[in-house]
Amino acid sequence: MNSERTWWKNAVVYQVYPQSFDDSDGDGVGDIPGIIDRLDYLADLGVDVVWLNPVYESPHHDDGYDVRDYRAVRDEYGDIAEWERLLDGLHDRGIRLVMDFVPNHTSDEHPWFRASRTDPDGEYGDYYIWRPGDPATDATDTPGPADRAPPNDWQSYFGGPAWTWDATRGAYYLHLFDEHQPDLDWTNPDVREGIYDRMNWWLEKGIDGFRLDVVNLISKPEGLPDSDSDGDTTGLSQCVEGPRLDEYLAEMREATFGRYDAVAIGETPDITLEEARHHTGPDGPLDMVLHFEHMGLDSDDEDGWWSVREWDLTELKRVVDRWQTGLGDGWHGVYLGNHDQPRIVSRFGDDGGYRRESATMLATLLLTLRGTPFVHQGDELGMTNYPFEAREELADAGTLGRIDEAVAAGRIDGFDDAREIVRYRTRDNARTPMQWDATEHAGFTTGEPWLPVNPDHETVNVERERGDPDSVLAYYRRLVALRGETPALVSGEYEPVLPDDESAFAYRRTLDGDRLLVLLNFDDGETTVDLSLDGVTRLVGNYDAPADRTVLRPYEARLYRLQE
Ligand code: GLC
Repeated sequence: MNSERTWWKNAVVYQVYPQSFDDSDGDGVGDIPGIIDRLDYLADLGVDVVWLNPVYESPHHDDGYDVRDYRAVRDEYGDIAEWERLLDGLHDRGIRLVMDFVPNHTSDEHPWFRASRTDPDGEYGDYYIWRPGDPATDATDTPGPADRAPPNDWQSYFGGPAWTWDATRGAYYLHLFDEHQPDLDWTNPDVREGIYDRMNWWLEKGIDGFRLDVVNLISKPEGLPDSDSDGDTTGLSQCVEGPRLDEYLAEMREATFGRYDAVAIGETPDITLEEARHHTGPDGPLDMVLHFEHMGLDSDDEDGWWSVREWDLTELKRVVDRWQTGLGDGWHGVYLGNHDQPRIVSRFGDDGGYRRESATMLATLLLTLRGTPFVHQGDELGMTNYPFEAREELADAGTLGRIDEAVAAGRIDGFDDAREIVRYRTRDNARTPMQWDATEHAGFTTGEPWLPVNPDHETVNVERERGDPDSVLAYYRRLVALRGETPALVSGEYEPVLPDDESAFAYRRTLDGDRLLVLLNFDDGETTVDLSLDGVTRLVGNYDAPADRTVLRPYEARLYRLQE
């Protein structure tokens, strides 16, 4: 990290999920011209950076995270010329563009993989992690030929074994995610060079950085041993912070983004605070990381994705407090949701009667913490989870893979048994089309949308909220602007207040004598805070000014400036 290059610290990032943002040609799939049509919306919102989810050529087994060609745009989205128009349109409005890059795996349709499976001795033979497998002890359990078992016990993050037998090559290949996403072998210098080459191709075009997909998984443990004894057999957990990660990240920085005024944002599952500090501190190769600790609060360790665990506000506070106070010179992105998580108001707030209040309260949390805030498209409207009824309404490989695995293992009979948890957790909740207006397909498309539009679009939509000063959208706009003009919100010291309160989340942010106080009520009832609030000035709040400052109304949020 170069401390002089800090534009990304002051930025608010907006995540555009291209497949669901705006469809300009009526094929039901969002596209780049659609995004271009909405650039003024992004400028009005006041965001500084767009993070664009993958737009590369891809068979879309995992919504573009299975890349077939890193140097081409998916046909449904447009072409390079249109992408360049998008980049120019963003830059004209003072908005930077961060591309999502996938260095850990490719599509199984990528030319490297096709060559690797057909020609083991050729140039690409060692581009992926191929193993012959072990002699099988239990033939019935083998996903490959009856006499060859997978080389270890790792499971795919999306369910099922992390190894798939390839009959053409006569070997197993590793995939930490879907079977259509083979992991690259980063020990091979040609692989690394090939990836850097493709990253530079985009940097040359003038982009402003990368969000690096699961970048802390690229180095695999020596010898690929069976999983640790802690009961977590996902290959993902086994590959976090592998032995050569530091070397690869330093090399990547040197060969690619380090040569440009470009930000490097690591998506880093399971990363610890210490590791984050290490990667993003003064000598670290990354500018910020996205950690996952708060995303795990509502599931238990044993049943993971399949469980919903009741959590207590003090647990969330403990995670936030630790990351807010413990990063030292490091930096992180702050997020409550994205395309891999349910909608934030459904998960952390109340998507029923207090939707507006809780969505704005969560916005206050998101935009007043230390770090770079990430707003996922639609959260600025208070979009909610979708009431999924049938398997056919889903597209997420992670959800479908887990259902199939559970059916195969006899744990459930079918979708009906999974409906409740799917509604709570599926990534498709955050991928339904953006709600522009109250018309049939929410102004997203004139065709049939690839994922269903949430029925609440009749009330939750841009057109309605744009004209309403009390809307979630208006509140986001106000807060984004306030953050832009308040350095204490960006880099001020964070100090927890009332750490044991189970309803109110309160903290101070301080920079050079500017002292701010944030009060958030996470409860659907009134909460009295035991604080002296004399001589404070209210900068923003999601209710009218209160008669009694110490009483927070349901999901109330307030930001105060304290007297010097
Ligand atoms: C990241 C992406 C997710 C994808 C996975 C595999 O976590 O955000 O959408 O499925 O990596 O590429």
